[in-house]
Amino acid sequence: MMRMGHTTPRRRLAIVAVCLLCLGAAAQSSQRALASYTTTQAEAGAQTYQDVCASCHKSDLAGASDTPPLAGDTFLGMWGGRAATELFDYVNAAMPPAGRKPDADALMDVVAYILRKNKMPSGSSRLDATAPGIIAPAPGAR
Ligand code: HEC
Repeated sequence: MMRMGHTTPRRRLAIVAVCLLCLGAAAQSSQRALASYTTTQAEAGAQTYQDVCASCHKSDLAGASDTPPLAGDTFLGMWGGRAATELFDYVNAAMPPAGRKPDADALMDVVAYILRKNKMPSGSSRLDATAPGIIAPAPGAR
């Protein structure tokens, strides 16, 4: 029979260290979980984007001299690490600046499309106003 009393102090220290690492990793991954969206959302969003946003932000999301890009390093420099719901709140409050405004569901789909164009992977859960995930491309996607 194994006797726990024979664990050396050094070994116990190693076990404690490993446990702390695991806890740290778990805490970090729950805070940094990527926002999730479905391909259905992104496809619906692509349509709305082309109808409502592309005139200014361009059909490839590259932006123009007076309009910021919505994909790529500049965009991710601004929005990377922030909640997808924050991006939605901004779009819902401010975009498009004039003209016909799509409803909130349609704008949520546009945000899903923007996530896809920033190389975030789609998943099985829909992006919605209560989803806690952040904006960042999947590791290795850039
Ligand atoms: C009439 C032109 C126009 C249209 C149409 C338009 N935008 Fe914009 N958008 C802008 C301008 C100009 C800015 C910069 C605003 C500022 O700095 O205050 C901007 C900023 C943004 C930003 C912030 C970018 C950043 O780097 O912070 C997002 C996100 C955005 N728009 C999304 C959209 C979406 C989504 C749509 C369609 C639903 C849309 N926009 C439609 C002109 C437009």
